[in-house]
Amino acid sequence: MIQAPDISWSYTLPEPCAPLSAEQTESYRARIKALLKEKNAVLVAHYYTDPEIQALAEETGGYVADSLEMARLGRDHPASTLVVAGVRFMGETAKILSPEKRVVMPALDAECSLDLSCPVDEFSDFCDQHPDHTVVVYANTSAAVKARADWVVTSSIALEIVDHLESEGQKIIWGPDIHLGRYIQQQTGAEMVLWRGRCIVHDEFKASAIAELRKQYPDSALLVHPESPEDVVAMADAVGSTSQLIKAASELPNKQLIIATERGIFYKIQQLCPDKELMAAPTGGTGATCQSCAHCPWMGMNSLQRICEALESGDSSHEIEVDAEIREKALVPLNRMLDFSASLKAQGKI
Ligand code: 13P
Ligand code: SF4
Repeated sequence: MIQAPDISWSYTLPEPCAPLSAEQTESYRARIKALLKEKNAVLVAHYYTDPEIQALAEETGGYVADSLEMARLGRDHPASTLVVAGVRFMGETAKILSPEKRVVMPALDAECSLDLSCPVDEFSDFCDQHPDHTVVVYANTSAAVKARADWVVTSSIALEIVDHLESEGQKIIWGPDIHLGRYIQQQTGAEMVLWRGRCIVHDEFKASAIAELRKQYPDSALLVHPESPEDVVAMADAVGSTSQLIKAASELPNKQLIIATERGIFYKIQQLCPDKELMAAPTGGTGATCQSCAHCPWMGMNSLQRICEALESGDSSHEIEVDAEIREKALVPLNRMLDFSASLKAQGKI
């Protein structure tokens, strides 16, 4: 049986942003609103960013979305500057899809442990050793890894794409998230070799501690992002990407929801379901190390102050650039995903 190499990674986590006073918050909000107009810019934020960033995106005609929608909405918006509040791969994806636009980010060093756990040279060597496999990579990767792939997927569309590849009898190299890969493999029955990356946020949810919490709230439903460990996914009432979990939160009849994903998502769920009680799934329990406690430290690098700085800066300190050759190659599997998703939408399948 083919196995991905066993590489161990360690990460230097960023310091959290200093909290702002109410006065500072108001002043940055006003400044950002003016700058967005002045610079013909739009704010595109991920569901995991802080609530005040999501609220500002909504108030200013921007978007709050999952990683697939962020890419599409940024591309299709007429603004000449995209301010991407999220982590670096999201800014790079926006730039790959919209090379003519200026793409700025509050923090260019907002990483993702999945991206970091998939260095292009090691991954590419591994793919070279198995040329009979189709290379499918998660969007949470560098532009260079995307350039090496046949397909890019996000968690919103991964099941459908792998199902399609499986129906064609293709063997797959999947990278980088091992938990999401295993989940997709189990759901589709596809032949998949899994890279061994992990999300430091989702990897920490603990099945035993969640089971204890469910005893206290027997009428609650459990919502799980599939980057979580297998035993946590197995307990879930709903499994899915951020947007799929938000939908499930609205549709499930349960008044209490235990949520195993980054806690920034609470903002949108609470907005749509004001009468529901939301609880963060525990990351404690035997063997817990809790580096993140359901909060992505890199998503936390986005702040109103840094959004303001990104809009004010005219230099490269906040601007995303992608090498032209890599961009051209990465665009192919990204467009494959977007076209596939658009065709499923047109058929009413998603
Ligand atoms: P989505 O693709 O569901 O937005 O998730 C991105 C992510 O980083 C999950 O941890
Ligand atoms: Fe990456 Fe995990 Fe943060 Fe998502 S939550 S951006 S997968 S480290």
